[in-house]
Amino acid sequence: MATTAPATRPANPRFSSGPCAKPPTHTLDALADAPLGRSHRAAEGKSKLKQAIEDTREILGVPADYKIGIVPASDTGAYEMAMWSLLGERHAEMVAWESFGAGWVTDVAKQLKIEHTVHTADYGQIVDMAALNYDHDVCFTWNGTTSGVRMPNGDAIPADRAGLTLCDATSSAFAMDLPWDKLDVTTFSWQKVLGGEAAHGMLILSPRAVARLESYTPVWPLPKIFRLTKGGKLIEGIFVGETINTPSMLAVEDYLFSLNWARSVGGLQGLIGRAEANARAVWDFCDQHDWIDNLAVDPVTRSTTSVCLKFTDGRITDGAAFAKAVAKRLADENVALDIGAYRDAPPGLRIWCGGTVETADIQAMLPWLAHAFETEIAAG
Ligand SMILES: Cc1ncc(COP(=O)(O)O)c(C=O)c1O
Repeated sequence: MATTAPATRPANPRFSSGPCAKPPTHTLDALADAPLGRSHRAAEGKSKLKQAIEDTREILGVPADYKIGIVPASDTGAYEMAMWSLLGERHAEMVAWESFGAGWVTDVAKQLKIEHTVHTADYGQIVDMAALNYDHDVCFTWNGTTSGVRMPNGDAIPADRAGLTLCDATSSAFAMDLPWDKLDVTTFSWQKVLGGEAAHGMLILSPRAVARLESYTPVWPLPKIFRLTKGGKLIEGIFVGETINTPSMLAVEDYLFSLNWARSVGGLQGLIGRAEANARAVWDFCDQHDWIDNLAVDPVTRSTTSVCLKFTDGRITDGAAFAKAVAKRLADENVALDIGAYRDAPPGLRIWCGGTVETADIQAMLPWLAHAFETEIAAG
């Protein structure tokens, strides 16, 4: 039987997994200091870009001897730049448990065509990271945004590995602890956990990744947009804010705003706590209802940002149509926008729980999810 509609609505119905909700205090007026119509190579622009790098280092706790660069084309740009610049020197271990990791496998298998081994797990599962050969280069995604499965920690990665680890941390940076000593390349985009703008990516390199860049030249050509070295030396300017090509200074200002907000909620630990509280509210809801469950099979691998859910009610005959109808009801009511599962993932819902989302909004939205479920079953 259909229930009555809940009395309260979330103040912010934005639960998209990217671009993600802006910080709760965000306004366009707060970006008034952006040096618009000015060269990004003028002193003011350069100092904003440098600030973005320094604030990123401070909040994420990136070691002083790691390089941080702002690069074009978002996370995809950052990760592919790293793969194209570093891989090929040795065998690659390609690890995927959902769509984005699978995309990096395709890059290596079909584009770079280097020697590699593929390790995959189905949606909801994770690859056994202890079974990999870390004398090879290892490419993996820390948090599978489309499956809601994440690495619980980096314990399986040996400190004394001979290969490099390339970590796509798009939906984990600023929400989960990343063990920098285990990561040689880390990438993410602004549009994710801090709710920044699209199109800009971050590339973080360990000293060993820099050493590889300076000692190895791939056999394939590299477009200018991917080039991190010149004459066999790292282009140091990229890592102090002299970007390869023109960035959006409005997006930079917006990222600086988000970083400041992150500081105001307690920095990385504050952000981790906010994501955990949000995810916990959704997990509790799943525990209280026997018709919905986490896609992640092992609770220790459950994502605290991209929480992916599946409907488990036996009365549902067409899972994809049902999930779509529930997501549409919630969007039509303006209580939850963009929460349908990713197009390549199993049918269900995906609720973004990163730190820019308020727990009160998750709590106000969940009774609407129950209402939409009951209404759709009754309509069925
Ligand atoms: C794990 C992961 N990798 C890569 C991407 C692609 O990011 P972008 O569109 O910022 O390049 C995403 C986007 O959702 C992602 O979640």
